Amino acid sequence: MRIVAVEVIARKALHAVGAMRCIIAGAAAMLFAAAAVAAPTAPGGATNKPSLLLGAAWYPEQWPEPRWSADLQLMEDAHLHVVRVGEFAWSTLEPSEGNYDLDWLARAIRLAARHHITVVIGTPTDAPPAWLTAAHPEVLRTDAQGRRAQHGARRQFNYASPLYRLFCAQIAAKLAERFGHDPDVIGWQIGNEYTDESFDPGTRRQFDAWLKSKYVTLDALNHDWTTAYWSETYDRWDEIPLPVPGANENPGLLLAYKHFVSDTWRSFQQVQLDAIRRYADPRQFITTNLGGLGWSDNFDHYEITRPLDIAAWDDYVGEGHLNVARNGAIHDYVRGWKRQNFWVMETQPGSVNWAQVNTTLDRGETRAMAWQAVAHGADAVLYWQWRDALNGQEQYHGAIVGPDGGPLPIYDEVRTIGSDFEHAAKAIGGTAPQAQVALITTYDSRWAIDFQPHNRNYDQLQVLLGYYRPLRDDHLTVDIVDANAPLTNYKVVFAPSLNLISKDLAAHLLDYVRHGGHLILGPRSGMKDEHNALNVDRQPGPLAAALGGRVEQYYALDSTVPVSGLLGAGTASLWAEQLSTRGAGDEVLLRYGQSDGWLDGQPAMIARGVGDGQIAYLGAVLDPALMKRVIDWAIDGAHLQPEFGALPDGVELCRRVDGKRAVDIVINHNLVEQNPSVLHIALPSPMKDVLHDGQIVTGVDLAPQGVAVLEFNEP
Ligand code: GAL
Repeated sequence: MRIVAVEVIARKALHAVGAMRCIIAGAAAMLFAAAAVAAPTAPGGATNKPSLLLGAAWYPEQWPEPRWSADLQLMEDAHLHVVRVGEFAWSTLEPSEGNYDLDWLARAIRLAARHHITVVIGTPTDAPPAWLTAAHPEVLRTDAQGRRAQHGARRQFNYASPLYRLFCAQIAAKLAERFGHDPDVIGWQIGNEYTDESFDPGTRRQFDAWLKSKYVTLDALNHDWTTAYWSETYDRWDEIPLPVPGANENPGLLLAYKHFVSDTWRSFQQVQLDAIRRYADPRQFITTNLGGLGWSDNFDHYEITRPLDIAAWDDYVGEGHLNVARNGAIHDYVRGWKRQNFWVMETQPGSVNWAQVNTTLDRGETRAMAWQAVAHGADAVLYWQWRDALNGQEQYHGAIVGPDGGPLPIYDEVRTIGSDFEHAAKAIGGTAPQAQVALITTYDSRWAIDFQPHNRNYDQLQVLLGYYRPLRDDHLTVDIVDANAPLTNYKVVFAPSLNLISKDLAAHLLDYVRHGGHLILGPRSGMKDEHNALNVDRQPGPLAAALGGRVEQYYALDSTVPVSGLLGAGTASLWAEQLSTRGAGDEVLLRYGQSDGWLDGQPAMIARGVGDGQIAYLGAVLDPALMKRVIDWAIDGAHLQPEFGALPDGVELCRRVDGKRAVDIVINHNLVEQNPSVLHIALPSPMKDVLHDGQIVTGVDLAPQGVAVLEFNEP
């Protein structure tokens, strides 16, 4: 059976590119070997991850069956290799309670296979059918105002409802029983973009129980949350409120609630994970598609993706054009969830329907965006969606074919991407971005700052991008990872807003520094402990002693403050911390100029050698030019060299590596209206131009939205 699956991919690949014969054979051998040794239930056991796939969300249940083959033929012609199906099809898969109809899905999968297209099955649990919610209204979610959701949209379920989870487990198990060994099913998606919490009494009781298991005694909870403040002291678990959005609750409670939400989504997911794993072949991967434009923090994405085989996210631009730095950073963030390559499970074919103005990406921009995903570590890109349903809430969304079933203008661009991917699959296969620089973050810190921003303009993503942009301007590969992740492979680690630093996290970071690491802490670092309580030592709390300095006072800014020193001159905005140095060996790298009297002449950035490494603390949000000087200082100090020479503005370069083999993906993101010129990129050494039959070139010409994929062996 497994070999058949590989053959399907092989047939398609050989049909398209003769030269792919050997990768497919290699992939087949790899898949077979891995499948033979994988433990059936081990997370991460799935190995069937073909090297580079283009695909779309396809909803056969919305169309008459005789139409399917025309759609699949169009997909095949566009070099699509994968469809995701089923994730909203519950009412078609189980038309009434306990009556399953999976035959149509089996026929759709068979037909797709005939067109050399493999399948990811989404479990339909984001959209319970009407018979279910009518018979069991208790599975419906209750909003923060106490209103029960009604049928007619999606996401109307209660994520904590044991009964709903039972229904989810049943449908997931049924699907896995039927398709868990289907050679053409390569993976599973659980649910769809976990989003809404429930505020019903049952969920509240679960929160009480969750708190009890975490804190064990009310004394411990009262202590950790300092509940003597405002007479918040609790004598019974059920006195503790379930915090509704926007409520002015104790920061300890707010943080605990976020952990509860993360745990509740994790256990919601686990029920289906177990059901699928019970039946599915380990070569089938299991994932979920995380939404919220990647940066949403409604739960901890590290926790959610930990038990999954791969991470996947839905990459949408919405209004306007691709924000290259933001989107690149989010790809890097997603890659950091599991510290491995990932999938873009959904992206827009040109436009969406939910922005304020649903503009369409320029011609060529969809292709540049697909390649940006791959450049940052995506192994698959799927469009949402193949074709709009004739009715339903998303009639205006971008699609690849129109209501008449004929190709829309974007179809040709998608076909080009498909052809690109086929040409590049061999070169890209097995490669991944490899970084020597990391930005570290935690959901705890993100939540803590967002609960109490202190300056409403303090946007943590923008602060992070302040570090990220200059690193990427030097074309350095950047990982964005959990601060608790292993750091030893990084020469430099930046922590832009690491607000919560517990003693354990401090020990982990110090260990990194003592062994030669360079750690640069940004503003707001180390203010709080793991309970979101103030650290008794001033910032950076448990790292202050090693830093030999501390934050004397922080200031929210409504205007800029001058900053200058060894690293140059510029301004701080939004946030400024007055630092002091106490230990021997501290260096003051930047000082504030004249401003409010408090900051005048005080240190804004300090650094100190510790063990074989160094800790620095930057207490301000700097303007881009001065920030670049800080980044250059850190990069030079760690003896890191940019991987490529200077490139014209708007040109992005990313490297994916496999041992000595490296692939550079170069993208000219300039819009025609910004810079219509064709840019010539001279290469540092001759490279193989992968999208042009592997000819050896010493330079490439890139029109706006142009892409080059260049393979070479690293010296
Ligand atoms: C995603 C969702 C899809 C579709 C898409 C439209 O968030 O997962 O089902 O609604 O948005 O942009």
